[in-house]
Amino acid sequence: MRHFQLPTGNKIPALGLGTYLSPPDKIEHAILAALKAGYRHIDCAAIYGNEKQIGAALKKALKLFPREELWITSKLWCDAHKPEEVLPALSQTLEDLGLEYLDLYLMHWPVALKPGVGLPGKRDDYFSLEEVPLRDTWRGMEDCVDREIVRNIGVSNFSIKKLTALLSTAAIPPAINQIEMHPYQQQRAQVAFARKHDIRLTAYCPLGSIGTPITTADGCKPPPLLKHPLIMTIAKKHGCTTAQVLIAWLLNLDIIAIPKSITPERIQENIKSTEIHLDTNDMTAIAELDMGARIIDGKVFTFYNSPYTIENLWDGEF
Ligand SMILES: NC(=O)c1ccc[n+]([C@@H]2O[C@H](COP(=O)([O-])OP(=O)(O)OC[C@H]3O[C@@H](n4cnc5c(N)ncnc54)[C@H](OP(=O)(O)O)[C@@H]3O)[C@@H](O)[C@H]2O)c1
Repeated sequence: MRHFQLPTGNKIPALGLGTYLSPPDKIEHAILAALKAGYRHIDCAAIYGNEKQIGAALKKALKLFPREELWITSKLWCDAHKPEEVLPALSQTLEDLGLEYLDLYLMHWPVALKPGVGLPGKRDDYFSLEEVPLRDTWRGMEDCVDREIVRNIGVSNFSIKKLTALLSTAAIPPAINQIEMHPYQQQRAQVAFARKHDIRLTAYCPLGSIGTPITTADGCKPPPLLKHPLIMTIAKKHGCTTAQVLIAWLLNLDIIAIPKSITPERIQENIKSTEIHLDTNDMTAIAELDMGARIIDGKVFTFYNSPYTIENLWDGEF
């Protein structure tokens, strides 16, 4: 398994297992299957509602592997953005996961919600970023590093504009930005920015998050990536599956990929993508598929007279 070195010197495995929408009663089996297949990196989040069950799996895993061999990421939910709320939120995640420290903790969204709010359902559920600025939340994240319960901190769903602002005030620069990335959303500006500022990108929805339709800004509905004729042709050429092509494409760009699966055969199939080497022709052809289409558009934060709009959430980088 390839690793990428972060500014702290810690090395993050290039491939991890996603856990969004992994049902609590299936996740333990999936994690143990993943570890058996060679995964050492699990991507979690408090809002996914399955960290306790992941903790049960990790308890078993830690009898087989030393803690230092595993890379565990989790994410701060938007309802704990006030600096004094970050540590209690992290403590809950650590308790649920049964861990003493996280390898990586991310601010899940650049959106602040009132304590206890999962997804917003009324105007009063929101704080604006003027009321709870991102730089203040980041101070809470930095405090967790100082307390040595988190080794690396980063962000998710941050625009270049928000990253630039954060970099200007942060004592510890974000190590990672976790963003949606696949051939329909290639994030070229983010890739260039990340390289320049030594920020590593993690790609979520690497397989196109099956089941969720993709719509472009102009309303076009492209075919599911796993069935795209070009991806199928490249898969045939390499004697592999379309999922493996999509993951290999990201790894070839030095992007961390976190495909989710609860199916042991697919979990195994996905890690074998580390053995697929796409050539320049494949990469050039896939580059043509970019259409700036998002699966996770953040609209969920824009209803009920929200202070957040698609424009200010993505800063026009949609
Ligand atoms: N930071 C954020 O805001 C954010 C947002 C979204 C996601 N994420 C993270 O990124 C991870 C990945 O994104 P995602 O779960 O949305 O989408 P994804 O990994 O692109 O797709 C997951 C789907 O693909 C299926 N699948 C997996 N391997 C397959 C294979 N080899 N062949 C065919 N189908 C396959 C899975 O089915 P089965 O499970 O049934 O096998 C599941 O339905 C998440 O789980 C989460 O950890 C982060």
